[in-house]
Amino acid sequence: MTAILSVEDLHVFAGGKEIVKGVSFSLERGKVYAVMGPNGSGKSSLCNALMGNPEYRATGRILLEGKDISPFSADERARMGMFLSFQNPEEVEGVGLEQLLRKASRPSSKVEEIRNWAIVKGKMRDGGKRLGLDATERDLNVGFSGGEKKKAEIVQMEVLQPRLVLLDEIDSGLDVDALRAVADSINSMRGEERSFLLVTHYSRILHYVKPDCVLVMKEGRIVKSDGADIIKRIEEMGYGGI
Ligand SMILES: Nc1ncnc2c1ncn2[C@@H]1O[C@H](COP(=O)(O)OP(=O)(O)OP(=O)(O)O)[C@@H](O)[C@H]1O
Ligand SMILES: [Mg+2]
Repeated sequence: MTAILSVEDLHVFAGGKEIVKGVSFSLERGKVYAVMGPNGSGKSSLCNALMGNPEYRATGRILLEGKDISPFSADERARMGMFLSFQNPEEVEGVGLEQLLRKASRPSSKVEEIRNWAIVKGKMRDGGKRLGLDATERDLNVGFSGGEKKKAEIVQMEVLQPRLVLLDEIDSGLDVDALRAVADSINSMRGEERSFLLVTHYSRILHYVKPDCVLVMKEGRIVKSDGADIIKRIEEMGYGGI
């Protein structure tokens, strides 16, 4: 089976220090991976480096369906089908969700742009309704509650339909109904052609979205790659025993 993503000896540097210290792993097509690990172990830095955030300098190889994407910018990686939902989504003054999505779903002609507009609007409205997000007309994330920011990320995922979805603590700040709605959204997008990397601290979301594999990060390294049973062990014993 071909991996959608292969990472070989990835080191990530930011703020003058090495944060991710040589990780290698593959994500198979159609599977869901959970990434767990103590605060500060490098999970978000890993996601940022995979997505091509220029603040995070990376060495090693990142292959998306066999193609080395190291030379490509975050924008180009997004166009290649990668998507990152941020742990702390930025507030973007002057840009609404609709505007962002219309641009991001890149129409190639004027006719397509008009058609695209209608589709984006429809999907956005449906997603917003299902998730209980009534802020789609406002500037993106500006004054949004923590949960609303996460819901807005999910609406973006639904509209863009990426093939590799990186979700960095998508469950943080969500109430119990919202958590279920977000999990439903992820589950409805699961499929043979799409893979998910789900960074989380809690088993709560993993009850709804069953991961195929759990990667445990500690101090910039992946120290364990195991089945979902490890989640219970982590909850009971913490990371000390892993
Ligand atoms: N841009 C940056 N500049 C300087 N240091 C950074 C930067 N980004 C991350 N770090 C540092 O790297 C380490 C790993 O941070 P990271 O956010 O990747 O951890 P994490 O595993 O996602 O933690 P958490 O579970 O708390 O979200 C931390 O010590 C953090 O302060
Ligand atoms: Mg983090």
